[in-house]
Amino acid sequence: MIPAVVISKKRDREQLSNDEIEFMIQGYARGTIPDYQMSALAMAIFLNGMSEHEIACLTDAMIASGSRLAKVDDTPRVDKHSTGGLGDKTSLILAPLLACCELQVPMISGRGLGITGGTLDKLESISGYKTHLSESEIEAQLRSVGCVITGATDTLVPADKKLYGLRDVTATVPSIPLITASIMSKKIAETLDALVLDVKFGSGAFLPTEALAEQLAASLIRVGKNAGVHTTALITDMTQPLGAMIGNACEVDESIEVLQGGGPSDVRELTIELAARLLISTQRETSLDDARLRLSRLLDNGAAMERFERMVHAQGGSLSSSRPLGNSRPFLASHSGLVRSLDGQLLGQAIIAMGGGRKIAGEAIDFTVGIKMHCKMGEAVATGQPLLEIMCDDEIASGQALRLIEQAIVISRSDKPATDNTAPALWRDYIP
Ligand code: URA
Repeated sequence: MIPAVVISKKRDREQLSNDEIEFMIQGYARGTIPDYQMSALAMAIFLNGMSEHEIACLTDAMIASGSRLAKVDDTPRVDKHSTGGLGDKTSLILAPLLACCELQVPMISGRGLGITGGTLDKLESISGYKTHLSESEIEAQLRSVGCVITGATDTLVPADKKLYGLRDVTATVPSIPLITASIMSKKIAETLDALVLDVKFGSGAFLPTEALAEQLAASLIRVGKNAGVHTTALITDMTQPLGAMIGNACEVDESIEVLQGGGPSDVRELTIELAARLLISTQRETSLDDARLRLSRLLDNGAAMERFERMVHAQGGSLSSSRPLGNSRPFLASHSGLVRSLDGQLLGQAIIAMGGGRKIAGEAIDFTVGIKMHCKMGEAVATGQPLLEIMCDDEIASGQALRLIEQAIVISRSDKPATDNTAPALWRDYIP
């Protein structure tokens, strides 16, 4: 088979056969298809889409590029995956929280993608934390701690490991077929009993509209159900960042606040809602209210934090010293009014400009960089009030970030809420 011929078929809006998809994915994973041909194919898929059948084949081919995690015992195995959102740190809280409910959570996570941060990058801001565990290390940690958050290994979905990094820097992230195959290959390879998906829309996510998030949820659930995984989804609003912190080290700090029973209410609420769906899917609880109560108690009584510490320790990390943050500079409101827009794309670009995200594949990240939000959409603000602060040691990069932030924040001069300014609900169940 000739790679350029397969690429040209997708470029010309034709359907790819199972063999063609497998040829490209296996070749890419093994190194016989180079990055430039895979990025051309990813762009053709981005532009021309894929049928349901092609998406299923793409997911299978990605899984077949490696092995699947073995079951270690009869404990139900669950996971959550988010389609990516600015300030979304729920994974760090949810994995240990569910491990406290006698569930196993083998969370295979990714790095920053596009404007959104990655769970692995965030965790690597913890001194010593290892994100490259072997399959036998993952299995051992599932037995001893009940949860693990690590990266795709050379044996577990290696095709996604490579393709994910390539998409991040080739503007091919917001594609329903590519997102579906990327997420579901990792999750199916984890040998899960139940999965909850956090499908995000808005400026702080990859998909701008609720309608597109619905399409993605349908695609993800279809693939999950066909693989025999009990799959549910929430559609969640990212028209503003989740929580106050955006970055890496600062998001770990905020996760720890939530794990200790505090932290921003939106982060706590969303984590509890997602985890509650898994308690229902695995029949650990029969009502959502009971599930929420159980999870709230585990955050408030220190059990979830203790489990997080065990997970970090098992993966070589240390929480004894605090994580350094860059120099803080406030960004002040130039006039009074109501906060009308907090554009996630521009805020995410500001983080990348400061070095907190990648411009090219494999670039090192400055974990100390971050943004702390001091306002939410619809809030009234006064002239000179700090709307956010940036944390960055590099003066020039800070200046670039502040110029992006100036465009990201819109304050209406009117003090009356605009009729189109009503923020959507933070989450809702996806009903197929
Ligand atoms: N998360 C993933 O793992 N992959 C994507 O493509 C998007 C979000």
